[in-house]
Amino acid sequence: MKTIIEPFRIKSVEPIHMTTREERREKLKAANYNLFALPSEDVIIDLLTDSGTGAMSSEQWAGIMRGDESYAGSPSFLRFEAAVKHLMPFEHVIPTHQGRAAEAILFSLLGGTGKNIPSNTHFDTTRGNIEAGGARAHDLVIEEGKDPTCLHPFKGNMNLQKLEEFLVEHGDSVPCVMITITNNAGGGQPVSLENIQAVSKIAALHGKPFIIDGCRFAENAFFIKQREDGQAERAIEDIVRDCFSCADGMTMSAKKDGFANIGGWLALNDPDMAELARAKLIQTEGFPTYGGLAGRDLEAIAQGLKEIVDDDYLRYRIRTNEYIIERLDQMGIPVVKPAGGHAVFIDARAWLKHIPPMEYPGQAVAAALYEIGGIRSCEIGTVMFGRQPDGSEVPAAMDLVRLAIPRRTYTQSHADYIVEAFEEVLSIKDSLTGYRIVKEPKLMRHFTCHFEPLK
Ligand code: F0G
Repeated sequence: MKTIIEPFRIKSVEPIHMTTREERREKLKAANYNLFALPSEDVIIDLLTDSGTGAMSSEQWAGIMRGDESYAGSPSFLRFEAAVKHLMPFEHVIPTHQGRAAEAILFSLLGGTGKNIPSNTHFDTTRGNIEAGGARAHDLVIEEGKDPTCLHPFKGNMNLQKLEEFLVEHGDSVPCVMITITNNAGGGQPVSLENIQAVSKIAALHGKPFIIDGCRFAENAFFIKQREDGQAERAIEDIVRDCFSCADGMTMSAKKDGFANIGGWLALNDPDMAELARAKLIQTEGFPTYGGLAGRDLEAIAQGLKEIVDDDYLRYRIRTNEYIIERLDQMGIPVVKPAGGHAVFIDARAWLKHIPPMEYPGQAVAAALYEIGGIRSCEIGTVMFGRQPDGSEVPAAMDLVRLAIPRRTYTQSHADYIVEAFEEVLSIKDSLTGYRIVKEPKLMRHFTCHFEPLK
C-alpha cells in the first residue's frame, strides 16, 4: 500500500476548542503578540514543542496503574532500568525528572571554569548547564549542516577534522566529547552511525569520555536505516544499540523518544563517576531508584521505550514531516531540507524578504500562522538569539520558525490543515509587517517579551 496511515487507533480523545480568525486576532493582541502567553485552549494545533506533548498508549496507561511508589527499590525502577539497558547497554542508569537535570548533574562533575566541551551542536539547555558552571560549549557540526538548502543525508554529523584539531588545541581542558542525536538546534538533522563511531574512536584516542545526548535516538536510528549503506535490513533496536555501545555515557529527555510526558536519565559506564552522580542526584533530585520521578512515570518510560523503536511508528512519524515539507516546498515556501525528525523549519528571512531581521520575520510568520489557522509555532531567530550580553542587538544567524510535531497526537488531516494555513499565509505574505519589542526581560526574552506590529 502506498498510503502510510497512523499505525494506531484512537481510544481517548481531547477536544480541540475551535476559534474564529476574529477571536484569534483579539487573543493575539491580548497576549502582546507573544505566542508563549496564549492559553493552550486557544490554540487549535500546538506545534510549540515535541517535548512531553505526545500521546501515551493504552499499555503506558496500564503501566501508570502498575507504578510502585516505594521510596527505595521500586520494581518500577527495575523495569525502567531494564528497558533502558536493553537499548543502551550502559552499566549505570540514573533517573532524573527531565533531560536538563541529567545535564546539570553531568556538568557538575565534568564542567567548571576553563573547561571546553565540543559537540555537533549543543541544545540550549546543554549549553546553559555547561556555561552556568563556567565552561565553554563549542559547536563543530559539518558545514553542510549550517546551510538550510543543502541536501546532505546526515546534516547533524560532527566535523571530524575540526574535532581532531579541537582536541589537540584544547588538550587537558576538554573533559568529554558530546554529540546530539538528532541535532535539534540544527533542524532535527540526523547523525550517521559511521560518524558516531568515528567520534567515539577520536574521543578514545585522546582519552576523553564520549557522551551522547540521545533525546531523539529512535528518529536518528530510522534515518540511519533509511539512508546509510548496509543498514536498510537491520532492526531499529540493533542500530540503536550500535549507536550507544560505542559511548561512555548518555543524557536523555524521555519527553522526546521516551514517549513520556516527563522524565529523563543520565547513564554512565564509569563506576566512580556514577557514584558521584548518584550523590548529586540524592542532593538535587531524589533517591537513585526514582530520581525526581514517580514510580508510574518510570513505568510509562519503560513501556514507551518498547514502542518507540517500532518501524511502522517511525515510518509514519518521519513521513508526516516530509509530507508537510514537500507541500510547502511545492508552494515555494523556503523550508529547511531535507525534513528533520521532529519538526518542520521555515526560513522566514528568505520567505519575507521585505521584513529585515531586526523587524523579526520569524515572529511575523508565527503570528500570521496563529491568526489564520490557530497554529502555534516557535520563532527561532533574532527574537530568541538577537540580544547580546553587552546589551546590543544583532540579527541571529538565521530567522527560522519551528513547527515541532508532538508524537502520535495529530493525524493526516491536521497535516493537511497546516498546509492549507500556509497557503493562506502565502496569499497575504506581502502585506505582513514586522514587529518591534516594547517590553523585554533581561534574559531569555523570547518567553515573555511584548511585541507590537509595525505599521
Ligand atoms: N537535549 C535536546 C537535544 C533537547 O531537544 C532538549 C529539549 C533537551 C536536551 C532538554 O530536555 O526538556 O527534558 O529538559 N528540548 C525541548 C524542545 C525543550 O522543545 O526542543 P528537557
